[in-house]
Amino acid sequence: MRFIETKDYEEMSLIAANLIGAQVLLKPSSVLGLATGSSPIGTYQELIRNYQRGILDFSDIHTVNLDEYCGLAGDHPQSYRYFMNQTLFSHINIKLENTFVPNGAAEDFDKECSRYDALVKSFGGVDLQLLGIGHNGHIAFNEPDDHFPAQVHRVKLTESTIHANARLFDNVEEVPTTALTMGIGTIMRAKRIVLVAGAEKKEIVCRAMEGKISPDVPASVLQLHPDVTVVISKS
Ligand code: GLP
Repeated sequence: MRFIETKDYEEMSLIAANLIGAQVLLKPSSVLGLATGSSPIGTYQELIRNYQRGILDFSDIHTVNLDEYCGLAGDHPQSYRYFMNQTLFSHINIKLENTFVPNGAAEDFDKECSRYDALVKSFGGVDLQLLGIGHNGHIAFNEPDDHFPAQVHRVKLTESTIHANARLFDNVEEVPTTALTMGIGTIMRAKRIVLVAGAEKKEIVCRAMEGKISPDVPASVLQLHPDVTVVISKS
């Protein structure tokens, strides 16, 4: 595992974007695993800048997102599909049909989990997976548990995650209580992982990356992955 400590959020974003940009340059048909939340926003802005400069071409890139809230359709402003369209996809030359997010408005969530799991597998593995981390050590929406879920599944969000994510909704009651998420197994199959974390995540990042490997702290499983880069900001 590599740790890159940066002086601030801007430098963290620049470094993460450079790692993703290198992946796109080396393999223009890469499958990128993407994340939502505040942590990767700056990374996406840097990728957009490098696209606008003519350095990056996303026309052959496919993307698979980690997760989505149950009950929110892609046109809901708080859905992760909407976030991705607004924050990244509409600013670069990726083909929208090559971007995938679990369908939070599916009629049958079990079927949607199987469909999304098969879809991710059909790509033969994600080349580079971008991750954030929750304050309780969750990655994607894999909450602390007694086991590491292998596949795409539906989860009940913890109170702490609901409260942490409520800042993006009008009030806490509007935050969906369940979500669809890639499993830990799905994430661990990515060839390379880049995790971005702001200074406020320092404690949980240390616990996850240096403490005991346990599903109590889902991100701790990353210690077993052969190619993880943690980019963490000092301020
Ligand atoms: C959500 C997402 C995670 C993300 C986490 C942290 O729960 N499902 O993928 O890592 O938020 O978000 P932030 O970066 O805003 O702290």
